[in-house]
Amino acid sequence: MNKENQSKIIELVRQTKPLIFQEMTHEKVTEKGAADYVTNVDVAVQKYLKEALGNEFPDIALIAEEKENLGMDPDKSYWILDPIDGTTNLIRDYHLSAVSLGLYENGEITFGVVYNPFTEELFYGAKGEGAYLNGAPIQVSDQPEFKDAVVSFGSSPYEKNRAKELFPIFYNIFMNCADFRRTGSAALDICYVACGRQHAYLEQNLKPWDYSGASIILREAGGTITDWGNKELPYLANSDILACVPQFRKILLKLINV
Ligand code: IPD
Ligand code: CA
Repeated sequence: MNKENQSKIIELVRQTKPLIFQEMTHEKVTEKGAADYVTNVDVAVQKYLKEALGNEFPDIALIAEEKENLGMDPDKSYWILDPIDGTTNLIRDYHLSAVSLGLYENGEITFGVVYNPFTEELFYGAKGEGAYLNGAPIQVSDQPEFKDAVVSFGSSPYEKNRAKELFPIFYNIFMNCADFRRTGSAALDICYVACGRQHAYLEQNLKPWDYSGASIILREAGGTITDWGNKELPYLANSDILACVPQFRKILLKLINV
């Protein structure tokens, strides 16, 4: 993806802001599953970006959260889109929600944009070209000691049946780090590791659109992202996610897999 196309995509993502605010004036919430919501905002943003990206890049198909996620072929190129990551936050007026877009090609993510229209923070990263927040280069934290680490976790709200095995893992980590956060947006969590606000983020069984776009932003900022067994991410399938600064990877893997 050349610079000109990168700018075009960033601009398209930014253009969702008035649409998001407009749609929020007549918000309608539907429950897809337990604690799993979709609103007219999610649907409108997805429709807008599907059309806009389709017009600019007709050869790249879209995979997106709202009923646009069937038939993934690893040999093809895709946009992977979460129109609103942090839908519960959107409904509750937390202002921690983001449009998250990744470009999957040749088995990896080569470009990603994560945009929070409430804070006007736009993160992007391109393979081999660095990661940026509102145009300024970002880097992960070089803090040396895990006891000073801020770790963010996802509570897997749609899978409460797994909470009994999950929370002891969080407990182990909590007892060894400085403190926890729970933002409610996986994409923002990964970007917050990328820009040094926190040192790690972990969650079980995330969907491709939750982690793909942000993964390249983190890598380009010097961070690492794998599954909980330290394996490469699948991008077109669900995965447990461990996003962290390199110096805390070993200790986190140990605490997760005791
Ligand atoms: C959710 C958020 C949340 C995470 C959930 C995701 P959504 O995405 O990223 O932080 O805990 O697992 O599904 O549903 O708001 O797009
Ligand atoms: Ca979503």
